[in-house]
Amino acid sequence: MNLEVDEMKTLILYYSRTGTTAKVARTLGLALDAQIAEIKCSHYRSNWLGYLIAGYDSVKGNLPPIEVPDLSWKNYDLVILGAPIWTSYAALPLRSFLSQKPDLPKRVALFLTHGSHSPAQKAVDFVSSLLPIPLEGVLDLPQSQITKDQFSDQIDGFVEKLTTPTVVT
Ligand SMILES: Cc1cc2nc3c(=O)[nH]c(=O)nc-3n(C[C@H](O)[C@H](O)[C@H](O)COP(=O)(O)O)c2cc1C
Repeated sequence: MNLEVDEMKTLILYYSRTGTTAKVARTLGLALDAQIAEIKCSHYRSNWLGYLIAGYDSVKGNLPPIEVPDLSWKNYDLVILGAPIWTSYAALPLRSFLSQKPDLPKRVALFLTHGSHSPAQKAVDFVSSLLPIPLEGVLDLPQSQITKDQFSDQIDGFVEKLTTPTVVT
């Protein structure tokens, strides 16, 4: 069952290396009146070396250590996961989090940001394969639109999908 936005307890849990995904998390947080929490990972700095190490680890599938806030995921009605796409997959820090098999609630959604040079489906499918339940909603946004603040329509559509009650027949 879906709840109205003001009744829903929502958590946005994201990783961002250079701030793009963080910007979307903040925007979604305001739209959904949601709590925001960050997955931190000191392995990948926001410089070129960080980019190269991230790319290397992503290709190799090397999962890095992460810091995650001490929260009880099950206390939320909905958890929205967010990450950039790295080498066609969700960024490794989100994959590290999911590999810990967190006890997530029944409603989980995903947003991804990317540089528009690979389709998001591979990343979505991979995240789905790490979850015991289907994703309730997916949003992927090009970094160019986020930088120019041209993503409000997509945010509105995503929020509507997550807050519109589903009719069970
Ligand atoms: C190591 C690495 C690999 C990336 N691989 C892809 C990719 O396969 N496809 C794509 O469209 N963008 C790719 N990008 C671009 C990021 O997804 C994009 O810049 C993202 O919005 C950055 O988010 P952030 O600022 O929250 O870290 C890659 C970026 C990095 C650092």
